[in-house]
Amino acid sequence: MFQRTHHCNELRESHVGETVRIAGWVNAYRDHGTGLVFVDLRDREGLTQLVFDTEDSSQELVNIADRIRNEDVVAATGVVRVRDGGPNPKLATGKIEIVVQSVEILAKTDALPFLPSDEENLPGEEHRLTYRYLDLRRPKMQHILRTRHRVTKIARDYFDEQGFLEIETPILCKSTPEGARDFVVPSRLQPGEWYALPQSPQLFKQILMVAGCEKYLQICRCFRDEDPRADRQAEFTQIDCEMSFVDRENVMETMEGFARTLWKHVLDYDAPAFERITYRDAMDRFGSDRPDTRFGLEIVDISDLAAKTDFGVFKGALDKDRGVVRAIRVPGGADKLTRKLTDGYSEFVKQFGAGGIPVSKYNGSAFETGVARFIEPVAAELAERLGCEAGDTVLFGADSYSICVKALGELRLKVARDVDIIPEGQWNFLWVIDFPMFEYDEKDGRFYSLHHPFTAPNPDQLEAFMAADPKDRDTIEGIVSAGYDMVVNGSEIGGGSIRIHQKAVQERVFTLLGISPEEAKEKFSFLLDALRFGAPPHGGVAFGLDRLVMHLCGTNNIRDVIAFPKTQTGGDLMSGAPGEVSEGADEGTACDEHVGG
Ligand code: AMO
Repeated sequence: MFQRTHHCNELRESHVGETVRIAGWVNAYRDHGTGLVFVDLRDREGLTQLVFDTEDSSQELVNIADRIRNEDVVAATGVVRVRDGGPNPKLATGKIEIVVQSVEILAKTDALPFLPSDEENLPGEEHRLTYRYLDLRRPKMQHILRTRHRVTKIARDYFDEQGFLEIETPILCKSTPEGARDFVVPSRLQPGEWYALPQSPQLFKQILMVAGCEKYLQICRCFRDEDPRADRQAEFTQIDCEMSFVDRENVMETMEGFARTLWKHVLDYDAPAFERITYRDAMDRFGSDRPDTRFGLEIVDISDLAAKTDFGVFKGALDKDRGVVRAIRVPGGADKLTRKLTDGYSEFVKQFGAGGIPVSKYNGSAFETGVARFIEPVAAELAERLGCEAGDTVLFGADSYSICVKALGELRLKVARDVDIIPEGQWNFLWVIDFPMFEYDEKDGRFYSLHHPFTAPNPDQLEAFMAADPKDRDTIEGIVSAGYDMVVNGSEIGGGSIRIHQKAVQERVFTLLGISPEEAKEKFSFLLDALRFGAPPHGGVAFGLDRLVMHLCGTNNIRDVIAFPKTQTGGDLMSGAPGEVSEGADEGTACDEHVGG
């Protein structure tokens, strides 16, 4: 028999008169000194009120009731009755209470570092992570864990219906390049050799397509030794998919269907068909390859107008290689953006390599304040191009293209928060498409793949790609890939591409990336081999599971959606990892018989 007959969110008026047994943690304890002691018992489903009638009950029961404290683990048997003190509309079980007949304290608690039931007085995150088991008892955290479970279940159901097979790939493997550092594990059986933990199962899922699996799914852990951020952990989870005999449209349709199913099932939200925006457009208008389109503040090119002024900052920028001048109009900024804020913007953009942010206000007929006198010769054209109205502020960026759009892209997000114009409860889904295949890094003097090196060129680009001279930077930078990213509200929740399925094309990518045939053979010979033996056209996507759950639960901290996350410095405060390895630990303690059974 189970230790309880009902969970703590189950009993209703229809149960009145029944004898029941529930178990859980003491969420609250109230002794009003009126002969009645109230205990709210909590399990992961909810709360139920227990009543101890100390005048009517046996002395033994009264003694136990007296000892009960917050977070003790208790099982109680009693009779359900209509709540004597009137219903509590805040609780699903608020119309009833249980009059306790017998109670057992299953575990007493020591003095607690904090009370999970006291949301108002939670300690800092460090404390919460150290005592994660207490933190996870909070209903908010239980809700997140449950949502995460639902997301994986919906994923499995959705992809199962579409014919995907869930297949596991190795954790101890050879390095897969996704642009981060690998975590490595020494091999005992082959001293001096190392495994890498997978940054993603990219190559394995492609090989599974060569192996004839046609549709692959895996909810898999990925490991990337990079600095954590609000939406990035070194150890995170992907919903990883791959399909054969498909083009870009087929993959995008399938994956969009998944995201819409998810939002419908979890939030009852019907997402309209996703917008599409090219990478170039996204960078030009939003300064980001994951644009947040929930508010305006679009970036506008004014290089031609800037060239007509004598403003040294503009001129200096336009003299640079790929120099541009761009502007953002902030409606009503004259009132909303204080001098202190706009001065801060010049500091803010420095972290992105920009020199500063010239500013001016528009009064309906002319610019005043800030750089007004410098832009005076083009004031009317500028106001018209930006659609300025009285009371607007205009922020300018002047630099090389990449620095300028990056700085303004970050700045528009900050301004949107500062003037509080990001709408709540709105979901702007979109696909970013037509990424360049390669990005040139001035510092390293070489190309890098914008996605990963297994991404195919768009079919209409294949010929130009194969013919391009490796030294012809402009042509190579102009080649568009068959990659795509799924973005919601400015956050990249998934990314993928159609892959290269022809060996010659793959080898050409390696050449352009400066990977020698020897290096390619050493690192990717299994892929190149597989491509020799009949690879179907294929493509896929990986969703960031943690990020999906963050959105669905409304948190902007990735650590909230991972049961046992790592801190900023990669530590697990609860278990103490990473730690030193004791002498001989790599030799193990298990005897063969114990391991083998
Ligand atoms: P990519 O590197 O874009 O692609 O990863 C896919 C998605 O995974 C999520 N993500 C992360 N989430 C949390 N922490 C991280 N450190 C982190 N890194 C990535 C993002 C991202 O969109 N193999 C390719 C996919 C493919 O081509 O099919 C890949 O891993 O939401």
